[in-house]
Amino acid sequence: MASILVLNGPNLNLLGSREPDQYGYRTLQEIMEELGRFAGACGHELDHVQENSEGDLVEAVHKAAHEGVGYIIINPAAYTHTSVALRDALLAVRIPFVEVHLSAVAAREPFRQVSYFSDIAMGVITGFQGESYMLALQAIINQIEP
Ligand code: DQA
Repeated sequence: MASILVLNGPNLNLLGSREPDQYGYRTLQEIMEELGRFAGACGHELDHVQENSEGDLVEAVHKAAHEGVGYIIINPAAYTHTSVALRDALLAVRIPFVEVHLSAVAAREPFRQVSYFSDIAMGVITGFQGESYMLALQAIINQIEP
């Protein structure tokens, strides 16, 4: 059994009503409940944290290391394009992670095409709205049980 943490950055608490053309109509709670059910059915434990501030996300990464989390699925949201601090936290704890985006960031504004995480991630999944998280979870479970 692995412990998997899903970490979501700023404004993702507004999913469902926030720019639905980009991010879809499902709420974060709906997406996370589906993920939790799937992880549980596969015999894994899944926890979920959403924070709007950078420092709280860094703290959540540190806590994950203390609690023995095996894998992280992270959507750093706007911090994807700015946060050296969050990148350094993930490097420090050495927990393998998948970077996830709901929207197709490569097809959006140029500033969104810079990620401080992609080069150190296990992999990156973008553009499938809420399903991006499920694809990331399936990829992690496939790594655990090939
Ligand atoms: C996002 C893409 C980011 O550019 C944006 O700032 C977000 C959400 C996504 O999931 O598509 O908040 O990470």
